[in-house]
Amino acid sequence: MRIGILGAGGMAAALGGAWVRAGHEVVVGGRDTAAAAGTAARIGAAGHGGLGEAARYGDTVLVAVPAEAAPRLAGDLARDLAGRTVLDCTVPMAPGPGGPALTTSGGTDSVAARVAAAAPGARVAKVFGVCHESVWTLPRPAFEGAPLAVPFCADDPAAARVVTELVDSMGCAPLPCGGLDRAGLLEAAAVFAVGVWWSGGEARHAFPSPALAPGAVDDTP
Ligand SMILES: NC(=O)c1ccc[n+]([C@@H]2O[C@H](COP(=O)([O-])OP(=O)(O)OC[C@H]3O[C@@H](n4cnc5c(N)ncnc54)[C@H](OP(=O)(O)O)[C@@H]3O)[C@@H](O)[C@H]2O)c1
Repeated sequence: MRIGILGAGGMAAALGGAWVRAGHEVVVGGRDTAAAAGTAARIGAAGHGGLGEAARYGDTVLVAVPAEAAPRLAGDLARDLAGRTVLDCTVPMAPGPGGPALTTSGGTDSVAARVAAAAPGARVAKVFGVCHESVWTLPRPAFEGAPLAVPFCADDPAAARVVTELVDSMGCAPLPCGGLDRAGLLEAAAVFAVGVWWSGGEARHAFPSPALAPGAVDDTP
């Protein structure tokens, strides 16, 4: 897969590195091309360039910039992103009085929906936002005997297929979670999990399947 990355920071390096290891061709794009060159060299990417060059390189394009910048950037690059699968990993988060807070109003008001509205020709998926960047530096991340589940939301079946193929290639388990109207839930879940981690808790211990409890009641809707 040819993957262009918009952004040259922590997530660009972590996910880009995982994709290089999985055999994909990656180009890192930044508004600071020297930073993009540094990140590209560090992960063994196929190349680097400006944001537009990375967008045009990829059949698949990762948006790895601050959440508040993502819709504007998608709009600026809308022509370049048309016809491509765009992966939005952003988390709309800011410090709040009781811990990290969501900076959207949640629900259908997600960064992913705003990115999709700004670049209407792109096939947008919300994915790769719920784990800390360090997880992607692990070879084939797995925990307690199970491959890492990677939740994603997408409206377009072709985008869902690309995400599934990409996640499979990383040795992880794709977890389809519905359309982009549910992306706000993923974004909120990421902010919630960060708050749990920052307070010293372990978020994954809080979400066991009811099927694991003896005498579990089947309340599947
Ligand atoms: N880090 C994590 O563990 C993690 C986990 C899940 C999701 N995320 C999400 O992933 C995204 C990237 O996070 P990160 O940790 O990689 O951030 P980062 O290390 O701060 O890197 C951000 C990148 O975005 C660029 N950028 C900033 N504003 C921009 C703009 N207006 N237009 C174009 N490029 C811009 C920065 O370029 P400059 O150097 O020129 O400023 C930098 O290359 C964020 O939305 C974050 O919420 C992060």
